[in-house]
Amino acid sequence: MTTALITGSTAGIGAAFARRLAADGRNLVLVARDTKRLREQATELHDRHGIEAEVLTADLATEDGIEAVARRLKDPRSPVDLLVNNAGFGNKGRYLDVSMADELTMLKVHCEAVLRLTSAAAEAMRERGRGAVINVASVAAFVPRGTYGASKAWVVQFTQGAAKDLAGSGVRLMALCPGFVRTEFHQRAGMSTDSIPKWMWLDADKLVTAALADLSRGKTLSVPDPRYKALMGLVKVAPRSLVGGISSKTGRKYGPQ
Ligand SMILES: NC(=O)c1ccc[n+]([C@@H]2O[C@H](COP(=O)([O-])OP(=O)(O)OC[C@H]3O[C@@H](n4cnc5c(N)ncnc54)[C@H](OP(=O)(O)O)[C@@H]3O)[C@@H](O)[C@H]2O)c1
Repeated sequence: MTTALITGSTAGIGAAFARRLAADGRNLVLVARDTKRLREQATELHDRHGIEAEVLTADLATEDGIEAVARRLKDPRSPVDLLVNNAGFGNKGRYLDVSMADELTMLKVHCEAVLRLTSAAAEAMRERGRGAVINVASVAAFVPRGTYGASKAWVVQFTQGAAKDLAGSGVRLMALCPGFVRTEFHQRAGMSTDSIPKWMWLDADKLVTAALADLSRGKTLSVPDPRYKALMGLVKVAPRSLVGGISSKTGRKYGPQ
């Protein structure tokens, strides 16, 4: 039986990955900060699918948290075949409304943790000649959208570059770029979702199905759903100022500070 490690497994997109991979018969290593929630999730997935689900409590905004997950990825006694770097969050507010500490925490979780965990996993996978990493970015990677969009642009560029460097090694890397997905993300970031049109919302389970299909096709970039494929096609040809204007307004209404 193969093993997948998912960061941010307890909610939203990460939980959808956990459900789907458990249903496919993979053992899981579940990573997030809330131990109680992780344990409940592990028990439920074990009972429902008969898989082994390990709990690893780690805050990926901390040195200790990143190191603990990297150590688990390198453990030769229990190899990880698929890493899903999914943990992430949005900050409440626009540029300069967000504290420098929160901006830096975002870079730590979205970029530094992704770099270090991808590297820990990919090194072990290269030695075994097989394995895969999915790095969850966002369509925000393709539009101007503060530190969040910039951090996700880094995830896309890093993942596609590393995938090229590892071509032929048996290790596959893919950046996953979802549009708006109904999860805990917006509520946690204090964002109002009123301005987001209904047609823009994606379902997390369908997103995961499309992502895994793209991974098995050998894609290094996955933008699931025809609506977002079309939208990203338009973004490429539209004037940057227009794209920036729309992007800075859509889904960026915040509650009281
Ligand atoms: N929802 C969207 O519209 C959307 C669109 C595009 C991309 N994304 C990306 O998709 C990924 C998942 O987002 P989501 O929408 O599923 O969010 P979510 O429902 O809020 O879930 C976030 C998950 O990440 C964990 N997490 C957050 N900070 C963490 C930290 N410092 N260390 C370890 N775990 C942490 C949370 O658990 P704990 O709180 O217990 O740690 C939770 O399991 C993120 O990278 C996000 O940027 C989301």
